[in-house]
Amino acid sequence: MTTALNIALSKGRILEEGLPLLERAGIRPTENPLKSRKLILDTNLPEVKLTIIRAADVPTYVQFGAADLGIAGKDVLMEYEGDGLYELLDLKIARCRMMVAEPKSLASRDDPDSWTRLRIATKYVKTTQRHFAAKGIQTDIIKLYGSMELAPLVGLSDRIVDLVDTGNTLKANGLAEVEHIADISAWLVANRASMKMKQQALKSLVNRLEQAVA
Ligand code: ADP
Ligand code: PRP
Ligand code: MG
Repeated sequence: MTTALNIALSKGRILEEGLPLLERAGIRPTENPLKSRKLILDTNLPEVKLTIIRAADVPTYVQFGAADLGIAGKDVLMEYEGDGLYELLDLKIARCRMMVAEPKSLASRDDPDSWTRLRIATKYVKTTQRHFAAKGIQTDIIKLYGSMELAPLVGLSDRIVDLVDTGNTLKANGLAEVEHIADISAWLVANRASMKMKQQALKSLVNRLEQAVA
């Protein structure tokens, strides 16, 4: 008897960088997930299926057991407030950093130690609140769903909290990094009940992924 295992992951970077990793772990989807419109994909392993969902939905699917495993960015996991999730393995893909950024002209004379109140646009509302509350800094947060770099240019906010990799997006919009919040990469997460009920099958898959990361 084989145990069915569902892995939830998102299109975009996670899938692009995750597919080669899964391949090294011996898991290959039977059709190209970058092209297919299917949301549940078979793999070369009859017991393993890939569920393709939005990045921010991965923790929800895993918490409620709709997927046994998930691949999600640390940014998404930090922002998620549910429980019943185990963070099993740093997959070391989709690496970037979460930063506070502001107009370059301001950054050259700004001192984070002097901050008392900030007006920040971000998609990471809870993480931003938590970060600044811990430092005793008040925040007015404007929730956006993307293109945060635009906010300071149009006077929506003074600063943003966003992900930075090459820094090209900040640079192209006249912004500069001013404070580091967290290093980000994608993690393998598991449903708590699956960890007990499907222990053997999960362990063998996680071992293979561990070797693929190394
Ligand atoms: P979304 O549509 O949710 O932005 P992405 O594919 O852009 O989806 O991002 C998926 C994950 O990849 C993010 O949750 C984050 O962990 C990581 N990521 C996002 N932007 C970058 C980047 N520029 N460089 C590296 N990793 C990134
Ligand atoms: C991400 C992130 C930044 C950019 C940073 O956006 O939100 O805007 O990458 O990368 P860089 O430092 O290498 O320029 P993404 O490309 O994912 O666009 P979207 O999420 O807004 O679609
Ligand atoms: Mg993105």
